[in-house]
Amino acid sequence: NTGALWGGRFSGGPADALAALSKSTHFDWRLAHHDIAGSRAHARVLHTAGLLDDDELARMLAGLDRLDADVASGAYVAAESDEDVHGSLERGLIERVGPELGGKLRAGRSRNDQIATLGRMYLREAAASIASGVLATIDALVDQAQAHPDAAMPGRTHLQHAQPVLLAHHLLAHAWALLRDVQRLADWDARAAVSPYGSGALAGSSLGLDPNAVAAELGFASAVHNSIDGTASRDVYAEFAWVTAMIGVDLSRISEEVILWATKEFGFVTLDDAFSTGSSIMPQKKNPDVAELARGKAGRLIGDLTGLLATLKGLPLAYNRDLQEDKEPVFDAVDTLELLLPAVSGMIATLTFHTERMAELAPQGFALATDVAEWLVRAGVPFREAHELSGEAVKLAESRGVELWDLSDADYAGISDRFTPDVRSVLSTEGSLTSRSSQGGTAPAAVAAQLTALREQLGAV
Ligand code: ARG
Repeated sequence: NTGALWGGRFSGGPADALAALSKSTHFDWRLAHHDIAGSRAHARVLHTAGLLDDDELARMLAGLDRLDADVASGAYVAAESDEDVHGSLERGLIERVGPELGGKLRAGRSRNDQIATLGRMYLREAAASIASGVLATIDALVDQAQAHPDAAMPGRTHLQHAQPVLLAHHLLAHAWALLRDVQRLADWDARAAVSPYGSGALAGSSLGLDPNAVAAELGFASAVHNSIDGTASRDVYAEFAWVTAMIGVDLSRISEEVILWATKEFGFVTLDDAFSTGSSIMPQKKNPDVAELARGKAGRLIGDLTGLLATLKGLPLAYNRDLQEDKEPVFDAVDTLELLLPAVSGMIATLTFHTERMAELAPQGFALATDVAEWLVRAGVPFREAHELSGEAVKLAESRGVELWDLSDADYAGISDRFTPDVRSVLSTEGSLTSRSSQGGTAPAAVAAQLTALREQLGAV
């Protein structure tokens, strides 16, 4: 069993079927640089503890640097016989510094604390990159909001016309959700910034190695306080997968709207040619594939999370080999978002909004009925009665196939003497929008204040 990290107590090598099942180099190789960084830090604490002399440390670090460069250039790759990234890199180190020195590095560490640490290192970097992709998507939404400060659209509940809103208000609603995702990644990092290195297989080390020195060198804020927790827990991975799934869901909700808005029936947006696709048979087609793939990939991201949680649920402490299955879901989540975010932000940034069409539809479908009821409330009518009276106006308009503003003063007076001709002051989209001026409302002034608040929070992440 030459080259493997274990074998002394075995008489024969592993069955081919076991070796094939066991192998993880095809996905854990992306942690190679992190593994080598961990090895450098580990060599230093072995030196501090008196287990490597000055010369050995210097040769070890030089060997690790050469190995790192060879991994980067592709001159060193995993061999067919390597089980995982850790074993392969030990082989690579031994090839460079000899078995005598190379064989000393494994003292006081286990693949169990190594892998738990490397995964956190990788995910912390990935989280920073994903956060900047989400921020670019937020920027695209904010730019579109700023480019259309006065455009109105039908605000919907149950997908039915509800009340007119500003397009900017609607777009910024998506921006706030994505901002919380960025904040979640930052909050998550506080829990991810704890290093399991030094936990050993599960019980810590007897060799006087300082986990906090390793943690500091690897960019962590501290080391774990419990070696069992350090090697056996994967909640930090699961939380990461939850946040990435949530980002997927948020992108999917935007995308679903873009898909609807781009239909003939809505006619709210035209997609840029660079962010739409054609049909192999229908020459006229212009399809919103970016948005559809975003919606589809949200399902995949949810699958990554649920698969990981299912892997974890039955595991006794401490390390179990099941935990090798922790990596592909989170790696897939990272890869998926790295592909998706630039496409979605590009799609949003290049949307053309048909603001006349949106404005025309904004007050339709009796979307000003609430304004009529609130006008009555301001005139002293209890809301319960105002709701009824406004509803009667809707019923009358609907029976005639007209909108609320088409009813005459006499029609309103016929419904109730509480109505005066002044009710017309709220029977316009502009009147409705301007009146909703409380914090968080859709009035242009409130939306301008909202944008300032959003920018402030964006500046803090
Ligand atoms: N490749 C394993 C993983 O990804 C780490 C190795 C631990 N193996 C072991 N037999 N203890 O989790």
